[in-house]
Amino acid sequence: MTETFADELRKATWSDHDGAEHTPYLDALMRGQLSQAGYAEMVAQHYFAYVALEAAAQSLAKDPIAGAFVRPELERVPALERDLEFLYGPDWREVITPSKSTLTYVARINQVADWPEGFIAHHYTRYLGDLSGGQVIRKIAERTYEFKDELGTSFYLFPEIPDLKAFKMGYRDWLNALDLSETQRKRMINETLLAYQLNTEVLVEIGKQLPTYLVA
Ligand code: HEM
Repeated sequence: MTETFADELRKATWSDHDGAEHTPYLDALMRGQLSQAGYAEMVAQHYFAYVALEAAAQSLAKDPIAGAFVRPELERVPALERDLEFLYGPDWREVITPSKSTLTYVARINQVADWPEGFIAHHYTRYLGDLSGGQVIRKIAERTYEFKDELGTSFYLFPEIPDLKAFKMGYRDWLNALDLSETQRKRMINETLLAYQLNTEVLVEIGKQLPTYLVA
């Protein structure tokens, strides 16, 4: 069988996926050893990244290449706002601040907002991740913090996507439908590697506070 672009992208970036997945912070979260405050810090950092990502999406909504990826059912900012209000209270906007790594990540997202394939690289890294490993994180968080009624984990819920598996398959079809030259494919793969690196750095930075976030 010939390798599709979606296969190529996944294969070229999977070891970097492992790097992001196995940061000390996510390892602690997955083991249920993270305090709720520690979990909330990741939600806060997500917020700044998704505000940038979804602003870039809006500016590319009519773009002939990136437009197909701009889907209202993926929008995460409203869900993040609900989670942050639940986790930090009504003054959440005054309480949360972007970390240094998040500012770097946001700057790169803003930089690629006029480069459709670059934007898709960041879009893929986040949303396909949220629809995949994100679902595991949601289950762990619900169990660890005894969250109820979707509070605290709305970010991982996609009520307008009834079948996540089918959606992810459709997403790969959009990737495969991109009409890219070899050079453009390589640039997009490189940008995806950068997106993984920037995400990993955000997690590593939160992880520096791990001693204060670990529960006994
Ligand atoms: C606890 C952490 C994580 C777990 C357990 C996890 C697990 C997984 C699994 C099982 C898949 C494959 C799903 C499938 O084939 O349908 C996947 C895919 C993916 N994950 Fe993660 N992941 C984690 C963290 C992350 C992070 C931090 C990112 C990026 C920032 C990420 C981005 C992705 C992407 C882009 C895919 C799609 C790959 C593809 O099929 O092309 N994941 N993840």
